[in-house]
Amino acid sequence: MKVLTVVGARPQFIKAATVSRVLREHDEIDECLVHTGQHYDANMSDVFFSELEIPHPKYNLGVIAQRHGEMTGLMLTRLEQVLIDENPDVCLIYGDTNSTAAAALASAKLRIPVAHVEAGLRSFNRAMPEEINRVVADHLSDILFAPTANSVSHLLREGIPNSKIFQVGDVMYDASIYYGLKSQQRSRVIKNLGCNCGEYVLVTIHRQENTNDADRLGVLCDAIEAISRDRQVVLPLHPRTKKQLEQFGLDLTGKRLVLTEPVGYLDMVQLERNAAIILTDSGGVQKEAYFYRVPCVTLRAETEWIELVETGWNRLGGDSAIEIIEATEEAIGSTGKDAQPYGSGRAAEEIYSVLKNSK
Ligand code: UD1
Ligand code: UDP
Repeated sequence: MKVLTVVGARPQFIKAATVSRVLREHDEIDECLVHTGQHYDANMSDVFFSELEIPHPKYNLGVIAQRHGEMTGLMLTRLEQVLIDENPDVCLIYGDTNSTAAAALASAKLRIPVAHVEAGLRSFNRAMPEEINRVVADHLSDILFAPTANSVSHLLREGIPNSKIFQVGDVMYDASIYYGLKSQQRSRVIKNLGCNCGEYVLVTIHRQENTNDADRLGVLCDAIEAISRDRQVVLPLHPRTKKQLEQFGLDLTGKRLVLTEPVGYLDMVQLERNAAIILTDSGGVQKEAYFYRVPCVTLRAETEWIELVETGWNRLGGDSAIEIIEATEEAIGSTGKDAQPYGSGRAAEEIYSVLKNSK
């Protein structure tokens, strides 16, 4: 059976690493890996392929574009040709990026079955490009791998038949278990950045809604500056955020701010698990905070990972710098209820079983 996997952005490399490893253990599956090229800096792409031992992609489509339509359109054209040439039994896609939506559309039009990992997530905010990508991907998919009970109910409410939905758990939870140990053994990031374990604030920011608006990005800069007067703040800077700060003439400064380039996954896991608190607009980082039982403030108006807010591990940061600072101080040292919303850490095996039986 031939599975054609499409990835393009940082979180997809991490998710695909976990599933691809399991697929490679089984001879009856032959995986062809396609990189759209969406993320292309070495520290946004190559580092994950080498440290997570992902095979070199058979194709890199080299799509680098600024606007959504242009990016998705180029991916669609180039993916269509690859799909025709490879003629896979199934096209495997991850998450909610432009690479996800383009692959779903190209495959569905060629009548190649689509399998979507991380199906059913919803923010109910169509101003987010990711929400549009999720809806498109889910409604074009033949096999929907939902990570949580909430994601299953979203899909059912939208009329997707139960027979297409498989609640398998979250592949990022699998990744946190498998790579968690390696990270502890190999990463030197805590020492190299001079972090005091259990005391610093880890921050990541990259969402369009936080970076495209100068006022909002200014609020986040103010909050970080204020927090870093009293506490060490570590911020691996996403290239999008770096460009937007330059464009708006904003300065990310702070007395105890440690600004770095994006770090590899093994370093990121160490930074997460040793933080006092995590402030983030990332979907993946919100969950990883919970996997390592670190309190989290989400720098957004809503979150798709609602279980984390319900159990008290995560809270929404609010609109103003003051609200973000207050939420941070409240959350430090707090804990939430223990729960297991993301499965048993065997999502990748379950995905393999469903794919194998789908032919
Ligand atoms: C994309 C996804 C988002 C995901 C995020 C993960 C979409 C619409 N967005 O957002 O869902 O959460 O990836 O990180 O698909 N850039 C570089 N080097 C890189 C990558 C990006 O310089 O290696 C710059 C480029 O100027 C680019 C900008 O960052 O225009 C934004 O990149 P893009 O892939 O469009 O969106 P992300 O914000 O990375
Ligand atoms: N991540 C990383 N290095 C960084 C920042 C994030 O390895 O400098 C990892 C993080 O641990 C998580 C994933 O990237 O597994 C999340 O990706 P991102 O925040 O870019 O996207 P999202 O999850 O919001 O789609």
